[in-house]
Amino acid sequence: MSWWRHAVIYQVYVWSFADSDGDGIGDLRGVRSRLPYLRELGVDAIWLNPFYPSPQADNGYDVADYRDVDPRFGVLADADDLIHDAHALGLRIIIDLVPNHTSSEHPWFRAALAAPPGAAVRGRYLFRDGRGRYGDRPPNNWTSRFGGRAWTRAPDGQWYLHLFAPQQPDLDWTDDEVRAEFRDILRYWLDRGVDGFRIDVAHGLAKDPQMPDVSAEPGSAHPHWDLDEVHDVYRDWRRILDGYPGDRVFVGEIWVQSTERLALYLRPDELHTAFNFEFLTAPWEAAALRKAVDDSRRALGPVGAPATWVLSNHDVVRHVTRYGGGETGLRRARAAILLMLALPGSAYLYQGEELGLPEVEDLPDEVRRDPVFQRTGGADPGRDGCRVPLPWSAASASLGFGPGPESWLPQPPAWAALTAERQNGDPTSTLNLYRAALALRRDLNGELTWLSTPGGVLAFRRGSGFLCVINVGDSAVRLPAEARSGALLLTSSARVPGDFLPGATAAWYRC
Ligand code: GLC
Repeated sequence: MSWWRHAVIYQVYVWSFADSDGDGIGDLRGVRSRLPYLRELGVDAIWLNPFYPSPQADNGYDVADYRDVDPRFGVLADADDLIHDAHALGLRIIIDLVPNHTSSEHPWFRAALAAPPGAAVRGRYLFRDGRGRYGDRPPNNWTSRFGGRAWTRAPDGQWYLHLFAPQQPDLDWTDDEVRAEFRDILRYWLDRGVDGFRIDVAHGLAKDPQMPDVSAEPGSAHPHWDLDEVHDVYRDWRRILDGYPGDRVFVGEIWVQSTERLALYLRPDELHTAFNFEFLTAPWEAAALRKAVDDSRRALGPVGAPATWVLSNHDVVRHVTRYGGGETGLRRARAAILLMLALPGSAYLYQGEELGLPEVEDLPDEVRRDPVFQRTGGADPGRDGCRVPLPWSAASASLGFGPGPESWLPQPPAWAALTAERQNGDPTSTLNLYRAALALRRDLNGELTWLSTPGGVLAFRRGSGFLCVINVGDSAVRLPAEARSGALLLTSSARVPGDFLPGATAAWYRC
């Protein structure tokens, strides 16, 4: 079976994983130095957030050169070394591809701005005349995902589209040069040995050429999210990827209305996998979690794609905090990971969740970098709180993140108790729970079968010999008979004596 059908993929947010040179910002050598940790954790692959040259208006999702490494993160040879070392340890590397937009500092956009309206080099982006007698009103009502309008006016009066920040102009995917360029970028990194790509905003590339206003009417087609034309791009890319040996993979970041729409991206000649955001956004309630699992399996089964599971990433509030924060949030998060890792399909871990890190909610305004914070005037705190550099050890002022005096976002003092070093020696730590679960997961196979359970409890078998029970509620419940007669493999919190499972606890049994 292809590795990506059941792989566990660890997301490395390069800015915040490990800093080798002491400038307070993570880098590729830092990632390299921590590969043994990831190997010991027991993951199969790493997804790296963008490390390309970039003005970093959106922490690297504004790419100025798709074929190099930003000096903050190292040099191209560091990427080659990282790929090489990871492979030597049996870890695969997935890199982030950002095709919806470039940086406004990309040579193409600079050329577009320097050229007059109507010039061919503007055709790679979405320049339009404004509305009104003087063209001083934006071409339509589209808004930026980061707040404010999606159009910025160039000095000569035309407007250009940016579904994200103004420093991230959207490319025009009907343009042949744009298509050719990305084919070439794929080959460039495939030739360097990467095992796959995570595709940023994969549902956004195609836009309605008429550029109508977004309509508030229910049921009306959206003019720029999830248009059918986008599928042509992925069919084209799949042919390229399939021309390479080694079972390489695409994973799409696809936010759509339903798992049925998601499944269209995962037809056999398109992308292999996509993030399952229904699972990520499900509240800590048994019915909602079960629905997310069932919806995904029902919708993806017919196209033959595996489900993927994810609880956190660099864009969302960390799940310890989403699930209630503090001791309660951590307890639920530990139960949730046993649920997630017992499911059939592949799973994504976001750096630091294996340490039980919560969202940092009290960052001072001055240190926040996320354009979401700026563009909403602070109404939305943005995503910096899940991007705080990892606490590794007591080795330095930045808790082992790097040799320098600080990290680009300050770490809460309480994280001194959560370092990987501290947790390594504690058998009850979250780190050791993840390690144990990942090791046991390797032997899991077989179909999922739900057991009927009382409200608030989920239980399912995998194949014939494995059972997972999750008590989502807060008080202890009597275990199903199958579990009572089975052998306990792992629990997310200390077990109470007898046949009961405590609140917010998951357990795995051999039975
Ligand atoms: C994706 C990324 C996010 C980024 C955005 C724009 O959603 O995950 O971090 O800000 O795309 O590229």
